[in-house]
Amino acid sequence: MAGRFITIEGGEGAGKSTAQTFLVDRLEQRGLSVVQTREPGGTPLAEAIRQTLLSIEGEAPVEMAELLLVFAARAQHLAKVIEPALAAGKWVVCDRFTDATYAYQGEARGLSSGVISQLEVLVQMGRRPDTIVLMDMAPEVGMARARSRGALDRFEREDAAFYERVRQGYLDRAKLAPERYVVVDAEQDLSSVQRSLDELIKRWFDVS
Ligand SMILES: Nc1ncnc2c1ncn2[C@@H]1O[C@H](COP(=O)(O)OP(=O)(O)OP(=O)(O)O)[C@@H](O)[C@H]1O
Ligand SMILES: [Mg+2]
Repeated sequence: MAGRFITIEGGEGAGKSTAQTFLVDRLEQRGLSVVQTREPGGTPLAEAIRQTLLSIEGEAPVEMAELLLVFAARAQHLAKVIEPALAAGKWVVCDRFTDATYAYQGEARGLSSGVISQLEVLVQMGRRPDTIVLMDMAPEVGMARARSRGALDRFEREDAAFYERVRQGYLDRAKLAPERYVVVDAEQDLSSVQRSLDELIKRWFDVS
């Protein structure tokens, strides 16, 4: 069975990392070799870019600088981690990927999706996730969870309207290509979310 490239998307505190760990455990239980990674990040250089994006104080990057930093990290991550893993037949489960760029830098910050898609073509050279798991929830629920965890990063300090745009940006993308998206109601309790993810895994193995 060839490897698959799966990404987990959603707003702050939507349960992405929790879902990712669950999926990775389940896939490993099936004997698959799985790479668990995240964006921005996944390599030392890309993690340094992440740190800058999340915590720079004093000078906020202009929208285009933020976009280019995100794609710089992505180029490094693809070349060093994602492409080699897929080439070796491994599964890759990544916490956020290019859908987050369309939702945050595009829909929420206001950059045109045309500009983002040009960079997507340039940087990804046709590589796209096989499945995008969208953890969908009202932003205030996720923000309450994020807040309860302590200090907020540069994105978590954005206002409610910003997060409404992020959510809508994700849902609009899911509508454009429903065959590649799995929209999970992330407001459900953990065991219901896990049941949805188990159904998804079952579908992968039933069809292949
Ligand atoms: N279905 C659920 N019901 C209730 N709590 C949950 C659920 N899923 C995750 N949580 C809890 O909510 C918090 C946020 O979850 P998690 O860290 O997985 O979200 P995230 O989307 O990765 O957040 P971030 O955007 O900050 O990376 C954690 O404390 C987690 O244990
Ligand atoms: Mg997380």
